[in-house]
Amino acid sequence: MKPFQYTSMQAYEAAVEQANSQPEQFWSEIADHFVWRKKWDRVLDWNFTEPEISWFNGGQLNITENCIDRHLPTRADQVALVWEPNDPKEQAARYTYRELHMKVCEMANILKRNGVKKGDRVCLYMPMIPELSFAVLACARIGAIHSVVFAGFSANSLADRINDAACTVVITADAMNRGPKQMPVKRVVDEALETCPSVGCVIVVSRLGWPVMMHPQRDVWYHRELQFVESYCEPEVMDSEDMLFILYTSGSTGKPKGVVHTCGGYMVYAEYSFRNVFQYQDNDLYWCTADIGWITGHTYILYGPLLAGATTLMFEGVPTYPDPGRFWQVCDKHGVNVFYTAPTAIRSLMQSGIDHVLPYSLHSLKVLGSVGEPINEEAWHWYSTHVGKGRCPVVDTWWQTETGGIMISTLAGVTPMKPAHAGLPLPGIQPVLLDSDGKELQGNDVEGYLCVKFPWPSMIRTTYGDHERCRINYFATYLGYYFTGDGAKRDENGLYRIIGRVDDVINVSGHRFGTAEIENAINQNKAVVESAVVGYPHDIKGQGIYAYVICAEKPENEDWLRDEITETVVEQIGRIAKPDKIQFVSGLPKTRSGKIMRRILRKVAEGELSNLGDTSTLLDPNIVDEIVAGKQ
Ligand code: WTA
Repeated sequence: MKPFQYTSMQAYEAAVEQANSQPEQFWSEIADHFVWRKKWDRVLDWNFTEPEISWFNGGQLNITENCIDRHLPTRADQVALVWEPNDPKEQAARYTYRELHMKVCEMANILKRNGVKKGDRVCLYMPMIPELSFAVLACARIGAIHSVVFAGFSANSLADRINDAACTVVITADAMNRGPKQMPVKRVVDEALETCPSVGCVIVVSRLGWPVMMHPQRDVWYHRELQFVESYCEPEVMDSEDMLFILYTSGSTGKPKGVVHTCGGYMVYAEYSFRNVFQYQDNDLYWCTADIGWITGHTYILYGPLLAGATTLMFEGVPTYPDPGRFWQVCDKHGVNVFYTAPTAIRSLMQSGIDHVLPYSLHSLKVLGSVGEPINEEAWHWYSTHVGKGRCPVVDTWWQTETGGIMISTLAGVTPMKPAHAGLPLPGIQPVLLDSDGKELQGNDVEGYLCVKFPWPSMIRTTYGDHERCRINYFATYLGYYFTGDGAKRDENGLYRIIGRVDDVINVSGHRFGTAEIENAINQNKAVVESAVVGYPHDIKGQGIYAYVICAEKPENEDWLRDEITETVVEQIGRIAKPDKIQFVSGLPKTRSGKIMRRILRKVAEGELSNLGDTSTLLDPNIVDEIVAGKQ
């Protein structure tokens, strides 16, 4: 176990003390445990005004050398990656660290052979198959910047992301499994690429053996390319602050933005947080159920566990196929010790009843984790009692795409745990709660806007191609602080409870959407004049999407138009952004200056039909009655 894995409350407190009083020394002692080709000149330079943040500047490294090569002397034959397919009847796959090394090198050589160089952007639009992991690491191996796009996004969304980063290569698959269904993947890429002039090459992995159109000059099969490449690829030496990856995420305004993470700091924090939160021990089998298309998959399926020399499980399927016991069947089958999933999955499995849990022993489980959205107490207790059998700590991990790694969380079995509370910050993380004037709330038992006042190694560096947007989004609301967009409480013992977003971002089953992003999609429908989208509490998804829509003409068949609008959203964004409710209205509650009063729309969507507050400043207060009367 590394010395930076704190296994007692005393060790935790000592680390917090050192991290706050001597942050540079604290982080440089941790960074010393990694393989650097050249040591850094300066640990930290920062200001939150520009913002400009650099960690381990002057240092040189390759993250894959740290994820794989450095383990080879001791762990070559240890399994690094377990892959569990969608269909339980299909064989699982296992890759040792030696085999993973080879697979990553081969993929890296395929990229090189197809013209990819250091600094080029490569888009990965793939199902959860081992080749996705190889591809992520292969990019990092040669210094190409990966931009993974979740395979549930539409061709439009994919094209936007490819174009924003001017990716030159796309790696994809013929098709994918999703529970009982099979879906095209390459076809979506083909459609997207009609508007992506930067892409010169598509590498296609055959997952289901579907026939696909291969464009001569542009498309190559992964399995054919394999015949031409060697199984070793020298890691590219990267500067600590060179970009490692871009990951697109939604904000409250405009199109999704490309959050940029860099090599050195991200690496250090990924292993540090992984070890501490999950208290990983050698030979544990660790399973995070996220998709690699999200930050959780980046940091806690791949980078964090591999840096720690762990065995990480990657799952192609869904929690309910072939039945709602699938997660628990996989836990027993492989002997999973640490299990990390999302509240939405827990709530949906809860609904199916414990009969789907009882057939499994789950005796291998030691630690349970939750991520992506607030976990309500009922779900927390169900998870702890029926899955953890009352003997596994539950860690509720709060963090964001922008933070790169877990920021506030119980350290399993080490720091205090309380249902529905993320707990204490990790050593080195300095959260604060601000009031609406931007003043820090002192002491405990307070509630405010969650900000961070000191940098940490894996924090966002910029938004790709638009640094100003990064400044405005995260550093301009409260000067001198990183603003998370979340509201939180600090209880009487200093434990944090995350309440949820305080901006126009909604969190649907752990997926982030800007309300404006969904409105823009809805407005693409020819029948629609204007729309307003809000979130409302949803039993399983956490939040559901409620859309108020104005049409040019009163719809003849409302259900039919609802389906059409839903289809438009699926085309524009993807199936994950389908509105749950669509209400047709003749107008929206606007102030005289034309601003939509979302407060009212939110209340109606929540089912609060009286006490709508002051509506006297509205241009047309009568519209509120109509909206209340038509609630879906
Ligand atoms: C929310 C996912 C409550 C939060 C890692 C945050 C949470 C957003 C939790 C980031 C949690 C994430 N409790 N809320 N444990 N974890 N969130 O970028 O609103 O997809 O701002 O990163 O999810 O979502 P993202």
